[in-house]
Amino acid sequence: MKKKNLVVLTGAGVSAESGISTFRDSNGLWENYRVEDVASIDGWYRNPGLMLDFYNTRRKELGTVKPNAAHLAIAGLEDRYNVTVVTQNVDNLHERAGSTRIIHLHGELTKVRPEDRYNDRDNFSEETVFDIGHGEIHIGDLAADGAQLRPHIVWFGEPVPKIEQAINAVEKADIMLIVGTSLQVYPAAGLYRFAGNSTPIYIIDPKDVPVADPRITHIREVATKGMEEFENILKSKESDYLCSHK
Ligand code: OAD
Repeated sequence: MKKKNLVVLTGAGVSAESGISTFRDSNGLWENYRVEDVASIDGWYRNPGLMLDFYNTRRKELGTVKPNAAHLAIAGLEDRYNVTVVTQNVDNLHERAGSTRIIHLHGELTKVRPEDRYNDRDNFSEETVFDIGHGEIHIGDLAADGAQLRPHIVWFGEPVPKIEQAINAVEKADIMLIVGTSLQVYPAAGLYRFAGNSTPIYIIDPKDVPVADPRITHIREVATKGMEEFENILKSKESDYLCSHK
């Protein structure tokens, strides 16, 4: 029997218990940095050195943290469901927890690519993207084609190349789970709208959620505790949720 499709949309909150700062909570990253300076394409054109420092620091931090029980629980769902993780996070904690199908909507911190100063808004070839682990890049570090290397991150003002892939996954979801996102940043925040009319949507977040939709059940917990509750819900509805004859 075919496993049911479970799409998990995650944001910074899923990694908070690993020790990575969220963006918009008190003492979040956007309290200490101006988003336009460190996360926009215009910031890159204004002061690329500042941007490189910011991501070098984030990349180094990533080397010191580990996946938490929520990442592991999401990976564990693959035993019983056909899981697609759509993450806004640029960390690699879902990979390290064992999830196998991950769509990184906002790019990946451990990867870099050559900048294309005259066409940055559109095309980059996946072939030019490469992994530097938890290392650093600096002004003057050049790709084979002579272009400055930049973080492989989707900045404000740039397109989100993986959004179509994410929409396709959500459209096919039998169940959707959203963990730890303030749902403030589009297009990711609007993804749940592509779920079917009868698709149940669970949101794990310790704070209020800014959406009202009859399909949504809010599990008001931190990610690790919320995942335990979500697993209990899945078990209690196993006969509805587990197998599909589609
Ligand atoms: P935010 O910082 O906007 O939201 C984090 C959410 O996680 C909030 O709703 C918190 O209540 C919740 N949260 C905090 N601690 C939690 C915990 N332990 N368990 C579960 N939830 C918790 O982060 P995102 O929604 O991910 O993009 O932000 C979206 C995008 O904005 C990011 O990908 C980034 C940022 O600007 C770019 O930089 C392009």
